[in-house]
Order: sequence, then structure tokens, then C-alpha cells
Amino acid sequence: MSRKALIAANWKMYKTPAEAQAFVDAFLPMVQGHTRDEIALFPSPVLLPTVIPACKGSHVAVGAQNIHFAEEGAYTGETSIGQLEAVGGTHTLIGHSERRQYFAETDEIVNKKLHTALKHGIVPIVCIGEVLEEREAGKTASVLKTQASGAFAGIASLAPQAIASIVIAYEPVWAIGTGRTATPEIAADAHRIIRAEVEKLLGANVAAAMRILYGGSVKPDNIAKLMAEEEIDGALVGGASLKPDSFTAIVKY
Ligand code: PGA
Repeated sequence: MSRKALIAANWKMYKTPAEAQAFVDAFLPMVQGHTRDEIALFPSPVLLPTVIPACKGSHVAVGAQNIHFAEEGAYTGETSIGQLEAVGGTHTLIGHSERRQYFAETDEIVNKKLHTALKHGIVPIVCIGEVLEEREAGKTASVLKTQASGAFAGIASLAPQAIASIVIAYEPVWAIGTGRTATPEIAADAHRIIRAEVEKLLGANVAAAMRILYGGSVKPDNIAKLMAEEEIDGALVGGASLKPDSFTAIVKY
């Protein structure tokens, strides 16, 4: 089964609107005509009204790093899915490890957000991954299975088209922002565990078609080896996505 790769930039809490505009101005010409992979940018919410119009008409998608699960309400500081849609965003990250670690997002919250995104036709990238202590204690497989089954609760009964839009990002927390990338073999092993769990939860066809990205210290010099693994269907890139030339080098691995 061939899966189209998705290379995604997670800008985290970086860039002003002017810096975001400058990135897009430099980046789009460099990836023009590059249709082998899907490309998506995930800027802070305040940058969306800059980045979305700047990418309009290109093949570069733009999404949010986080959305709230509620349609609207008294949730100070949060962004709703309707707000994302209204400014033209098409994708969202869900359950990034920094959200789990610093903002107490649980598998249950991740699940609610996934339901909200799918209801609105927003493409979700569900992030899962173990922390170092879990890996060292031999708990990686059980953590990944728990996170996947938690995220996908109640998803099996949704429309096939909605389910097919789901993307997973495997991001071992010990590899994020540390310069310590998982080896391609370690990443591929984790992807196999996740895909087997997805097969149990959502069926063999869904599992075979679902894209599982790798994230954690992806750089221009390690992307090719990662992408050589059949199990790895793209990358979620933090630090190395902030500069147009470095992110372009990753996109064009
Ligand atoms: P990194 O971040 O590439 O800087 O390790 C990846 C991520 O957090 O999505």
C-alpha cells in the first residue's frame, strides 16, 4: 500500500507575523512543483491570518497546533475549531507531547478533540509517544497502545471518509528538541506497534492506509534515512522547520 508522505512544520511558539510572512515568501518558490509529498505548516493561532492567505493557491496546507474540543464557550485563551475554519485552516495537531506535558492533556481530552476535528472535516494529526523513563522501563509498546486506544475511542463507528483523514505522529518525547533522533529502526518498530493497534481498533484497511509520521529532532541530514523506512510516512518537524532552507531540504529529502 503506498501512502503519500506528509511533511509538517510545527513552529511552536515562534515567529511574529512579519517573520511568518518572510518564511512563506522564501519557502513557496523553493517547493513550487514539489508534489511528491504533502506539506503543511502549523503556526501559532495569531499567525494564521498571515500564513493562510500567504499560502493560498499553493499546495501548502496550514493548520493549528491545538484546538479546543468545545464548539465555543467560556474557555479563556483557547481556539475553537470554528475559529480555525473561519480563517481557512484545514489541519490541526492534537495531543502534542508539549500539550500533554505542560497543559495536562489526557488521552480523554485528545479523544474529544479528535471527535471535534473529524466532525468539522479538519485533518487531525494525533501525536503519541513515550517519555524516556517509559522507554527505559520497557513500557514503550504498552504506552503507545494505551495512547492510541484512548485517542481512538468511539472513532470506529464514524464515517469511513472521516476515519481515513486521520494522521498519527509518533513522537518519542526523549527525541523532541533534544537532538537525539530515534534511529530509523527504533521509529519503524514503534510505527509497527501503532499500526497493529490501529488495525485492532479500526480494521486492517484503515491501518494499512493510515499515515504515521515520525517526529523528534528531524533534520536535513537524517530525514532520508528515516523516510527510507517503509513504515515512516512523513515527518513532524519542530526546530528544523523554522528556516525556509532547512525545511525545504527536509521536504525534498
Ligand atoms: P523537534 O520537534 O523537531 O524540534 O524535535 C518536533 C515536535 O515537537 O513536533
